Amino acid sequence: PKDGSDDHYSLMQWAARYYQQQLRQHSEKERVIQYLKGRGLDGETVQKFGIGFAPPGWDTLMGQKRGDNRAIHLLTECGMLIEKEGSNRKYDRFRDRLMFPILDRRGRVIAFGGRVLGEGTPKYLNSPETPIFHKSHELYGLYQVRQAHRSPERVLVVEGYMDVVALGQHGIDYAVASLGTSTTADHIQLLMRTAQSEVVCCYDGDRAGRDAAWRALETAMPLLKSGKALKFMFLPDGEDPDSLVQQEGKTAFEARIQAAMPLSDYLFGHLREQADLSSNEGKARFIAEIKPLIEQISDDVLQETLLQRLETELGWGARKHFAQPKRTVGQRP
Ligand code: CTP
Ligand code: MN
Ligand code: MN
Ligand code: MN
Ligand code: MN
Repeated sequence: PKDGSDDHYSLMQWAARYYQQQLRQHSEKERVIQYLKGRGLDGETVQKFGIGFAPPGWDTLMGQKRGDNRAIHLLTECGMLIEKEGSNRKYDRFRDRLMFPILDRRGRVIAFGGRVLGEGTPKYLNSPETPIFHKSHELYGLYQVRQAHRSPERVLVVEGYMDVVALGQHGIDYAVASLGTSTTADHIQLLMRTAQSEVVCCYDGDRAGRDAAWRALETAMPLLKSGKALKFMFLPDGEDPDSLVQQEGKTAFEARIQAAMPLSDYLFGHLREQADLSSNEGKARFIAEIKPLIEQISDDVLQETLLQRLETELGWGARKHFAQPKRTVGQRP
């Protein structure tokens, strides 16, 4: 894939400024400000995250660059303009939406997420993959977290833009979102490098959120290190971090973070829900499920800890289903 150039970055920066300016100046700004108020966001938070407004109309952004063919071309490469099929007519991708700029680690604007103001589909529209935006290894809010804490003790991973922003508004300034995709191995590696002691996954209290948590656990298994914890928070049905922190405030929300479930409790708890350990069939099933997960762990100390727990919970003999570890603790060949 083609690499991005300085010109791509500076046009995206320009677009972000344009959207922020529209939030202050556009004739329909009152509608947007009411929406932001309704969601409990104040000016400082809007500023901190660079939130803006893409006005209605098919060519408000493009119109600013009329006649500048190179800019139009680069904006198209950045996914800001869409080329109409079978013609060279173009139009703005983002129209009448609340705009969340996505920054890279250096604070450069690389993409946007745009939310409809109220009801409508799609609820969020995101930039496509472009020469400067590779979704699978970017995290929304990471730049702001790094601004607040050079090396944060803990990083919270949530699903959405509004979750990061609402948490920030309540003083929980160490949350990032994985941009609507599932949390990838790249994300987990980046998170483990960034957090000094723990990464806490906190997805929505719904089916999709619970499935995302299990997928994150599966993805993380080979990447776990004994010195850093991966934990999981499960929210009440129908809630997400945004709705919950707005309801109960910082202190109560942080108490939930404090009580997050360690990976091993989630692993054993989740599998125990699916296998009845009072029967031999159930035990066999449990072992069949947990075996590939434990075998993927490359950290010997952590692997040994989980094998010992397996033996405690299922009885002596459970670990003979595992190959003897190729390496033993403390000794490397
Ligand atoms: N998402 C998306 N496209 C959609 C719906 C969701 O990209 N059509 C992504 C967005 O990044 C969104 C995240 O998935 O933030 C979580 O989705 P959801 O829980 O539905 O949205 P919320 O973040 O809770 O949005 P809001 O509170 O604004 O309704
Ligand atoms: Mn990149
Ligand atoms: Mn959801
Ligand atoms: Mn949500
Ligand atoms: Mn929400």
